[in-house]
Amino acid sequence: MTELTRNEAARRAEELRREIEHHNYRYYVLDDPVLSDAEFDRLVAELAALEKAYPDLVTPNSPTQRVGGAPREGFTSVRHLAPMLSLANAFSAHELRDFDRRVRGALPGENTAYVVEPKIDGLAVSLTYQNGEFVRGATRGDGETGEDITPNLRTVRSLPLRLLQDAPPLVEVRGEAYMSKDAFSKLNARREEAGETPFANPRNAAAGSLRQLDPGVTANRKLDLFVYGIGHAEGVAAGSHHETLAWLAAQGFRVNEQYRLFEDIGEAVDFCLAWQKKRFELPYTIDGMVVKLDSLEQQQRLGATLKSPRWAIAYKFPPEEAVTTLKDILVSVGRTGVLTPTAVFKPVHLAGTTVIRATLHNEDLIREKDILIGDRIVVHKAGDVIPEVVRSLPELRTGREKVFNMPPHCPVCGARTIREEGEVALRCPNISCPARLKESLLHFASRSAMDIRGLGRALVEQLVEKDMVESVADIYTLKHDVLARLERMGSKSTANVLGEIEASKKRDLSRLIFALGIRHVGERAGKVLAGRFGTLERLMSATEEELTAVPEIGPKIAASMRAFFAEPQNRAVIARLVDAGVNIESTAAAAAARPLAGKVFVLTGALAGLTRDEAAARIELLGGRVASSVSRRTDYVVAGENPGSKLDKARELGVSIINEDEFNTLLGARSQQP
Ligand code: IVH
Repeated sequence: MTELTRNEAARRAEELRREIEHHNYRYYVLDDPVLSDAEFDRLVAELAALEKAYPDLVTPNSPTQRVGGAPREGFTSVRHLAPMLSLANAFSAHELRDFDRRVRGALPGENTAYVVEPKIDGLAVSLTYQNGEFVRGATRGDGETGEDITPNLRTVRSLPLRLLQDAPPLVEVRGEAYMSKDAFSKLNARREEAGETPFANPRNAAAGSLRQLDPGVTANRKLDLFVYGIGHAEGVAAGSHHETLAWLAAQGFRVNEQYRLFEDIGEAVDFCLAWQKKRFELPYTIDGMVVKLDSLEQQQRLGATLKSPRWAIAYKFPPEEAVTTLKDILVSVGRTGVLTPTAVFKPVHLAGTTVIRATLHNEDLIREKDILIGDRIVVHKAGDVIPEVVRSLPELRTGREKVFNMPPHCPVCGARTIREEGEVALRCPNISCPARLKESLLHFASRSAMDIRGLGRALVEQLVEKDMVESVADIYTLKHDVLARLERMGSKSTANVLGEIEASKKRDLSRLIFALGIRHVGERAGKVLAGRFGTLERLMSATEEELTAVPEIGPKIAASMRAFFAEPQNRAVIARLVDAGVNIESTAAAAAARPLAGKVFVLTGALAGLTRDEAAARIELLGGRVASSVSRRTDYVVAGENPGSKLDKARELGVSIINEDEFNTLLGARSQQP
């Protein structure tokens, strides 16, 4: 890129912002992208580079801000321009007809029409736009005042940062932020693997993600948004709710496409009941349908009670629950080694499918919910997707039910399971456990670990599934002819991968420590530990006290290391890595251990504390060399009592002359390792 003047940069930045937001809109709102991800990323990278060069060009609504800004201390409260009311509920077709009677009773002789739309199960948000710019986003709070979550809402990709058409001076838009079923189940799977408590449903997940002081966390949570109304507006011309929805869509908002307009309440009720059955097909959860009187002028005349408008009602779906019998509890091992108990029950129909099993998350939960094998249990689907046991029905027990305990050994490989302090999850510590092997291999080969290019997921999956490797050490015995027969492995790529594997044997100990995948031991800990212990043997024999004595190494890391090295299967893998010729020494520690490497010494005169031989031995131990005569290549002349002519020669050549004290300091350098 040629140098731009500031003005040119400002113009280009604005152009890029419009372009990026346009493509963002096509992708996240219209679901109709025209650019490839790479092309899109290039635009964002160009804008980011401009903003880096000219920091004053960064605007609050620049698309670069969608990754989340700096964490905040707390939330400030904001007063809504108009109160955010909630909806009255109807739980049956009968109650919906009652609502219609009340509405028509208040509007005698008038025509009425209703818009019916899905009730999204998320979190109500208020979005304020001034002259078309997104200036503030808030939670509902108590309806009068909410919390300012503007930076968090900016990370929601389907939220327009600028309105598309001639902007009104001020508009407060209302909508529902939510998490899709897919994002919810992925997030929970990640949380369970990490030993964290999963969210109960997508609504909690959305609320927890939006109320983060660090917007960077929100940005990673894949939230979405539907808008369904206007709270306060100056300069918006719409006479009806359906026109409002059309106006919102034209401004770039995501409006739920499932809404329908009805003149007859009977048809509106049928529509609600149809969605009650169909709701599980949607990629997001809805907990009912909202019926709204269409005419804004009629809405105004009907007004509201303190809590809710008289012109709208929520038809709430009955919760999907079923009763069945718990036949057994099975334990599975996840890809990172977490053991998860799963309830297996008599098949029941639930939220659109037949279900026979449900996660029980962990042992604590089984105790809390008082669940015994053989119990009658109530099951539901969290967020319509994840089957869960809601509760047991102890009053129906026969006395033949059995208490369940988590196994002391991994059901897949037999290693003794561990539960870390303060964690609910039980884990298998064996990196070669078949349940964990793929992830262990991928981690081992990853860039910051052993950096083996070409050993990616496609190859790892084949190696594990074809039983070609049983541990990370086995990659060092792979042969060209068998590897070349795998899918997508030509002779050339096989040779490349084997070359990479061979080269990885020379990696530093710090990388190997990280590559082993010891829980809590990251890249940084790998470096610190390698520097401090120097070799893998010394690290493996270090006690917990010796480990915690190292700066930056806390009790959590130390305990995890001890558990890891105590596991016989892990020790066997390490022995095989050593046999294969993998380097188990630290170059940093080696350098620190040989601080006098390359230095040439000449000794003259008598030292008080060391004989000449002892002094020479110490120098050599630290990597230095002792010469018999002084030359230009001499680094130090050590002068003791009664030095000889070597001292004169040193002076003549300008070689450094040190006394016994200075010499001792040099020798002491060894104890100054990191
Ligand atoms: S209209 C005056 N429409 O349901 C009330 N609300 O108690 C205006 N919700 O938390 C609400 N989908 O955020 C409306 N299509 C929809 C909705 C919806 C979800 C939420 C709303 C509020 C609750 C109503």
